[in-house]
Amino acid sequence: MISQPHPAVVPFGRTWLSHWKLDPSVTHLNHGTVGAPPIRVLEAQQAIRDEIERQPPAYLLRELSEIAVGRPRSGPPRLRAAAQEVASFLGARGEDFVFVDNATTGMNAVLRSFPLEEGDEVLITDLAYGAIANAAAFHARERGAHVKTVELPPSARGLQAMADAVIAAAGSRTRLAVVDHVSSESAIVLPVREIVARLRERGIAVVVDGAHAPGALDLDVPSIGADWYVGNLHKWAFTPRSAGFLWAAPGRQEGLHHPVVSWGLGRGFTAEFDWVGTRDPSAYLAAPAAIAFLREIGPDRMRAYNHELAWSGARFLCKRWGSPLELTEPMVGVMATVPLPARLGSTPEDAARLRDDLLENDRIEIQLHAWRGRLWVRSSTQIYNEWGDLERLAEAILRQ
Ligand SMILES: Cc1ncc(COP(=O)(O)O)c(C=O)c1O
Repeated sequence: MISQPHPAVVPFGRTWLSHWKLDPSVTHLNHGTVGAPPIRVLEAQQAIRDEIERQPPAYLLRELSEIAVGRPRSGPPRLRAAAQEVASFLGARGEDFVFVDNATTGMNAVLRSFPLEEGDEVLITDLAYGAIANAAAFHARERGAHVKTVELPPSARGLQAMADAVIAAAGSRTRLAVVDHVSSESAIVLPVREIVARLRERGIAVVVDGAHAPGALDLDVPSIGADWYVGNLHKWAFTPRSAGFLWAAPGRQEGLHHPVVSWGLGRGFTAEFDWVGTRDPSAYLAAPAAIAFLREIGPDRMRAYNHELAWSGARFLCKRWGSPLELTEPMVGVMATVPLPARLGSTPEDAARLRDDLLENDRIEIQLHAWRGRLWVRSSTQIYNEWGDLERLAEAILRQ
């Protein structure tokens, strides 16, 4: 019998919804998709916006970034100070870390900057996020290169088999590999350190797509050993949207360009990324407030709670639905994806219909998709969720 999470990891639950603006009449099981910032962080962001609006040109043109008019500031530009704080939360140095709007932007920066040549190959897996696969295909095509998509073995075969499949697919023309840290729809925590080390041993540059990792995993970015690491802060690190980041190893910053070229061109990595035209920087500047919120609730406690809901929840849902459980605990971070009963269909249209039904009839917000001949559902909980939310999902699916 799979029971509710152990009491030692249950300090959280529905009462925490009061820290969010989320509609309490909805069962939110989709935190990771676009994130949901706590009210306190939104208030910090609004305070920053209010401050900007008192003197917009001074704030944006003199205080924000290294691309500034007037006499040099005495302290670091505001974006650099915020970058330093978030970078140190992620084990990194501020000078190797820049904010970008989202993971898509960061991945595009790396993909378009990488000096691919005709006939070169970019390696990516079939678990990669669709938008990133598109970006890889686009930038490869522009250079006469191509993308090789490796089909990963089913999770039932284990993480080692997945790592081995990536390495086996790398060939003599593979120059760059895109490796997910946590895959999007399938929510698998991949053995990224091992994959990166084995690829780099073979002289292949690696960019890690860590869109779902910051906040969700205990992350020390430089120790992963990648050339570049891209992450989102607005998913699991509680920042307002849109806040992502790009970390570049010190030897991998030259020649790295933001997809939007602006005044910082030729003035160094951080200068180039910190100013890409006039925009609202408040999500980045509110990131330290989000990290403070995370530290206050305790990142380890938050992860333990969400992991428990994901892992115990996966076993519970599979048992309830008679679905095969293909996951092992090390594959699970704070989300888990499990197969739905076969009778519910197998196509993207079936997935879309079921997602709409759950939202409209049961007021359950959740990600589900079609993959390898069946439908899958991803539970993506946060500290405002509790076991009853998963039971509600289980029953709603059984009623279908
Ligand atoms: C693995 C992965 N990469 C990239 C992205 C894109 O993130 P964004 O839309 O914030 O750019 C996502 C979004 O869920 C993702 O899961």
